[in-house]
Amino acid sequence: MHHDFPAGPKGLPIIGNAFAYQRDPLGFAIRLEREYGAIASYPFLNIRLVFATRAESVRYVLIENARNFMNREVYFSLIPLLGDGLLTIDGDLHKQHRRLVQPAFHRRRVESYGDLMTAYALETVEHWRPGQVLDMVREMQKLTLKVVAKALFNVDLREESGVLGQAFTASLNYLNNLGLLSFDSLPLNLPFTAYGRFMRAKATLDAAIYQIIGDHRRSGHDIGDVLSMLLHAPDEAGSALSDSQLHDHIMTLLAAGHETTAVALSWTFYLLAEHPDVRQKLMDEIGQVVGNCPPTVADLEHMPYLEMVVKESMRLYPPVWSVARQAINDFELEGYKLPGGTMVVLSQYITHRLPQYWTEPHRFWPERFSPEQKEPREDFAYFPFGAGPRMCIGMPFAMMEARLLLATILQHFTPTLVSGARIVPKPLVTLRPRYGMPMVLFPSQAQRTSPSSCLSDSSGRQGIRRTP
Ligand code: HEM
Repeated sequence: MHHDFPAGPKGLPIIGNAFAYQRDPLGFAIRLEREYGAIASYPFLNIRLVFATRAESVRYVLIENARNFMNREVYFSLIPLLGDGLLTIDGDLHKQHRRLVQPAFHRRRVESYGDLMTAYALETVEHWRPGQVLDMVREMQKLTLKVVAKALFNVDLREESGVLGQAFTASLNYLNNLGLLSFDSLPLNLPFTAYGRFMRAKATLDAAIYQIIGDHRRSGHDIGDVLSMLLHAPDEAGSALSDSQLHDHIMTLLAAGHETTAVALSWTFYLLAEHPDVRQKLMDEIGQVVGNCPPTVADLEHMPYLEMVVKESMRLYPPVWSVARQAINDFELEGYKLPGGTMVVLSQYITHRLPQYWTEPHRFWPERFSPEQKEPREDFAYFPFGAGPRMCIGMPFAMMEARLLLATILQHFTPTLVSGARIVPKPLVTLRPRYGMPMVLFPSQAQRTSPSSCLSDSSGRQGIRRTP
């Protein structure tokens, strides 16, 4: 077959576009789309990347031809941390292990985590003081790490969440730069090298995870959490999963399950602070539906605006801002015949802002997700959780968590940006604010209901609660 790559920037000899990319990955992606449109290609280190922006391409790569596109090579830099968890395995092995983990995310089970999500959010706001300045990313990271560890593995990380959160951040920062011609990536295990720091961070995480596994094994009985489930799950050969397989699943679920949601919440607080009209409308909805009562899973369906706000926030600042795949066999995309081995990059950040799919694409406008507006104009122009067989397994968990934490926190505090704070997105593995998210906590106005009138169990709730 004759192969012809689409046009694109040539970059420097040998390293291709690695420097331009590393300096400013988002700017690089934005320029690519602006100059080349639906598809472009460029040399990157020793490979040729294809960058595709239309919803059609998302559908083609992630759904229709998913079997021809692999993860492992793309996420190779994460393997030192994640090992062989769901994100980094492919093919039949992936299918098998995805089936093992899936029951943890069935609807009923996910809904059973609701109360603990709200309870942990309440605990967080109890520690906050009016007027306090804090880095919202760090706060949300501690909170989401505690939630996912408790929900999935029944471990209480209240003490360690700060240390472990930073160990994750350090590891992901390091791994993100791997292979990008940075001296930091030389594997010299010394106290002052980046690699040395990574090894220490990883050792901290590994120790915590092996302790979790050990505790579960010792207790011996099924306590109904995901780890118990995995401990009793036979692998492909019919034997139980090894400690190292369990470790990789736990590490992957902890890593994928907290950073993303923390970043999503941080950007949402930022957008609400910048758009008081949206914030007011959201506060009105929360006030009407739950008043001062801790929100429950049953309340969420009565809070459509809350969902629209979270979705719109993940449109403008998708926590996972791009995904990529490597093709096994030759394929055809946007009219180009491309060889097996090609890496295809798709970007939520770019596609989520293309004017052919969205009205005023750069505007924060949650109503675009309402049943009346029905945006995006095409399926798969919105894919914050990916799509197809590798779609985020934690999506129902994350959507529920984001809404419950957001509503609970807003009932108590109205975070506002520290004046003069520079908020610039920095695309690492996730899209983080480069200089953190410094915010001041203002107390939220009292709501109409008093907490004593809250029903302790959510079963009888029907939307608007009565004041006594
Ligand atoms: C707002 C929060 C989240 C976002 C935006 C997000 C986004 C994503 C995306 C885009 C992918 C697909 C990556 C690809 O196609 O290469 C993914 C995969 C994954 N996510 Fe999430 N995620 C979130 C929360 C979670 C949570 C809470 C968990 C677990 C508790 C989780 C666990 C995973 C796992 C295990 C995978 C790999 C799935 C597979 O390949 O089979 N994620 N996530």
